[in-house]
Amino acid sequence: MIEFSKKILFVGYGAVAECTLPILFNLIKVDPKNVTVIDFESKEEKLSQWTSKGVRYVRDRVTQDNMAPMLGRYLSAGDILIDLAWNIDACEILQWCHDHGVLYVNTSVEVWDPYAGGRKRPTERTLYWRHMKVRAMYAKWKEKGATAVVEHGANPGLISHFTKQGLIDIASAMIAEKKAKGRKAESLAGHVAAGSFNHVARELGVKVIHCSERDTQITDVPKQIDEFVNTWSIEGFREEGTTTSELGWGTHEKKLPAFAYRHKSGPKNQICFARMGINTWVRSWVPNYSIVGMVVRHGEAFTISDKLTVWEGKRPVYRPTVHYAYCPCDEAVVSLNELRGYNYQLQPKLRIMNDEITKGADILGALIMGHPFKSWWVGSDLTIEESRRLVPHQNATTMQVAISVVAATMWMIENPAEGIKVPDELPHDYVLGISKPYLGNFISTRSDWTPLRDYKNAFSGFNRPDFDTRDPWQFKNFLVKDGD
Ligand SMILES: NC(=O)c1ccc[n+]([C@@H]2O[C@H](COP(=O)([O-])OP(=O)(O)OC[C@H]3O[C@@H](n4cnc5c(N)ncnc54)[C@H](O)[C@@H]3O)[C@@H](O)[C@H]2O)c1
Repeated sequence: MIEFSKKILFVGYGAVAECTLPILFNLIKVDPKNVTVIDFESKEEKLSQWTSKGVRYVRDRVTQDNMAPMLGRYLSAGDILIDLAWNIDACEILQWCHDHGVLYVNTSVEVWDPYAGGRKRPTERTLYWRHMKVRAMYAKWKEKGATAVVEHGANPGLISHFTKQGLIDIASAMIAEKKAKGRKAESLAGHVAAGSFNHVARELGVKVIHCSERDTQITDVPKQIDEFVNTWSIEGFREEGTTTSELGWGTHEKKLPAFAYRHKSGPKNQICFARMGINTWVRSWVPNYSIVGMVVRHGEAFTISDKLTVWEGKRPVYRPTVHYAYCPCDEAVVSLNELRGYNYQLQPKLRIMNDEITKGADILGALIMGHPFKSWWVGSDLTIEESRRLVPHQNATTMQVAISVVAATMWMIENPAEGIKVPDELPHDYVLGISKPYLGNFISTRSDWTPLRDYKNAFSGFNRPDFDTRDPWQFKNFLVKDGD
């Protein structure tokens, strides 16, 4: 168990933080008196088992105006800030932590008011845009400074480590089964040993990577009218789901889809749509069935596609298409449908399910496609029973996020002066070593799935589905469109 003798501040004590705190005390030896939690909602009851041990609870809200003095009250150099709130501007809080030598971890890159600004180009609404701002700020710093790990939850977060594990597993199987021989096998093994995952992906012929998720957790307390029910932050989901859909755009793609926009500066590894993520549906797969999921924008689409790009000078010669394909729990699917009917005005009642879940699992992994095995899925199949065994009263979705936050925190304690890091820049074996005991069934499996494998045209001859039957890995084959 690693020890930490300085202070830890949690901002936000919602679904993820509730699950993170007990795991943190399990894996890091820290005096509860050194831990403070800030949340503007009443959390006395939820925190009572921890405040009785010495954890301090402060009911307050971090705002643009009070952020610096408030953080300064609880934190100084060498301390840790765990940001599990929503809509705190990432650049401002990162700058504050940098200036004060405070270690920092969050699970998404946010801004003070994501709904402000009226009519904007879709590109300006993107996570890509936010990442470019973080990069520009970081580039001005004279030294790296205290470590800050951004976007280290389940996805973004663990999914980057699943992807690396998957690339290694595919390469190993290729070599063991003599699908890669001689020089090709040597080259693959060399790239794996060097950790050059972009070259591994290119040599394997990987074209597309989905973060594919199916949440099968169900309840006997169904969603009521005017209620949004989910297994994690409803505010967070609404924010990312009702804005532009975004994806890492592969070099194999032949045609830009309708409503797509490109960026004009930076690595230009992403495109975005003038269409909401929750209304952009794709075919995908989890072990062992097909799903349709939503291309909700997420940090992993940016960082994984960026890190897996192979550049020749300023030209990207290889990059896979990378995006989320999210099929949430049934209650959330129904909640979204009601939200659409209400023209995206959030329902007045919000509920994150915990004890009322009766069964199910969160099945979350990297679906890596286009190589000689066709598809390969690596990730976590965590049941509600197992997550309750690990931490009572928590659900499988928040467990996958919480263990990742704790793993990143442990890495920061051991590596305190690394500056800003995205998940792809942390060692995957370190993070997975800590996380696996909390991920239930850890799966790494091949599949002959392609987006066209199970497709049946119900109106064959009477509609004109726009597919590329010569290359199954074109984005248009995944996208659910009119006439399919
Ligand atoms: N990367 C991932 O895998 C992943 C997964 C789930 C959630 N998340 C993100 O993690 C964050 C937390 O998620 P959650 O499910 O716990 O959300 P939640 O809505 O359950 O909890 C957030 C809590 O933060 C508090 N809060 C919000 N803004 C605050 C502020 N300015 N000052 C003080 N308290 C504040 C709220 O009152 C709430 O209790 C969200 O940003 C969400 O998008 C990331």
